[in-house]
Amino acid sequence: MAIINFFKGHPSTNLLPSKTIADTYSKVLVNNSDYLEYDNDPNNQHPLAYGTDPGNLEIRQTISDWVNSKYQSNYLNAELINLTAGASYGVANVLASTTLPSITKKAFIVTPTYFLINSSFVDVGLGDDLIAINETAGEEYDIDLVKLKKELKKFGKEDQTEVNIIKNDPRGERKVYQFVLYLVPTFSNPGGITYSVKTRKKLIDLARKYDLLIISDDVYEYLDYANTETITKPIPKLNQLDQETITNKYGNTISNATFSKIIAPGLRVGWQESATSHLVKQLSITGANKSGGTPSQLSTFIVNDLIKTGQLDEIILKFKKIYKERAQTLKESVKKYLPKGTKVYGGDGGYFLWVELPNFVDNEKVIKEVSKKNVILASGEHFEVLGESNKQNWGDHCIRLCISFLSSSEIEKGIKLWGETIDEVSN
Ligand SMILES: Cc1ncc(COP(=O)(O)O)c(C=O)c1O
Repeated sequence: MAIINFFKGHPSTNLLPSKTIADTYSKVLVNNSDYLEYDNDPNNQHPLAYGTDPGNLEIRQTISDWVNSKYQSNYLNAELINLTAGASYGVANVLASTTLPSITKKAFIVTPTYFLINSSFVDVGLGDDLIAINETAGEEYDIDLVKLKKELKKFGKEDQTEVNIIKNDPRGERKVYQFVLYLVPTFSNPGGITYSVKTRKKLIDLARKYDLLIISDDVYEYLDYANTETITKPIPKLNQLDQETITNKYGNTISNATFSKIIAPGLRVGWQESATSHLVKQLSITGANKSGGTPSQLSTFIVNDLIKTGQLDEIILKFKKIYKERAQTLKESVKKYLPKGTKVYGGDGGYFLWVELPNFVDNEKVIKEVSKKNVILASGEHFEVLGESNKQNWGDHCIRLCISFLSSSEIEKGIKLWGETIDEVSN
């Protein structure tokens, strides 16, 4: 029997737009102009040359116009964008640029968390300074702001915005933050929830007071399943709200966005936005960018063309229709096959749903037994923030399910087998 793997968090191979991307590469490299006009252009470079530090200005302009059109706003412009090699690179880049163990006191990570993120904090020397902040689905605020505030007060000083600026770097001034906070506020991975504007505004207030940089992994906001006929206007991003009432030179927010979920992860293109151009400029001149230029120069041309031809919107709409159907099947199957009292979060957008089973279920044993029937489940234990004191024991009762990799029929079959296994193990 084929393996039904709910852990995999990438699109099924048959959904990847291979032909469109292949055609676009040849259009960019063979059919189009020779880009000779770029030879003496400080802002734009040939697709096969080293890129400029933040990426081609024309491409950043295309992306900012596209984002503005989706947000029905004019908040973004090319100067507020730095191109990246995707969200994973983006987080590493932000941490390299904005933290220093001598200045950055604590790094907050939302829990349950996107499990691969812990290592990026370890890499910059913050592994022993991680503090988990719980998502609080269904409560007044979507994360535990009481704990966040308590820890900020305990470890930090107020009014450090102008203090933590490195002035002796030949590349220019560099803002380092006293604290950083990592979260996925829209269709969160793994929690499945979207933070309200009220939560976002409160976070910005705290961030300004305690010199905290909010790193917002904005990777799923265009995959909203409420309406699959159009790309729905997403909820305002933290950097958009920060910009509306900006109080300092650098701002306190980064939107770390990616084309991985709306084109293909192998393309390796993402972009960062900040509320002011100072912060994003700083991100564009980290060591690797200074040496090699923007990290995905050629692939950014593919994104540029997909946007200009309208093909990006077509790809997103196709994903939305398919993922919506899968999410519905998943929710119905959970209701039908899993025990009474099972709670499900998410399914309105993005890739992930978070399932909390009733106490009587021996989660560990069930996961082991169902794997013998070729159903792979992602136990909650994978989604902990690193560090013994951060442990929430998510593995006891929680499971993350993903809809991007499995077809509707595989989803239903897998959940049915899971439900049967719970019965077998519990009786
Ligand atoms: C929250 C989050 N951040 C980052 C990534 C990785 O994105 P990228 O392919 O752009 O590095 C993922 C992929 O699952 C994700 O869910």
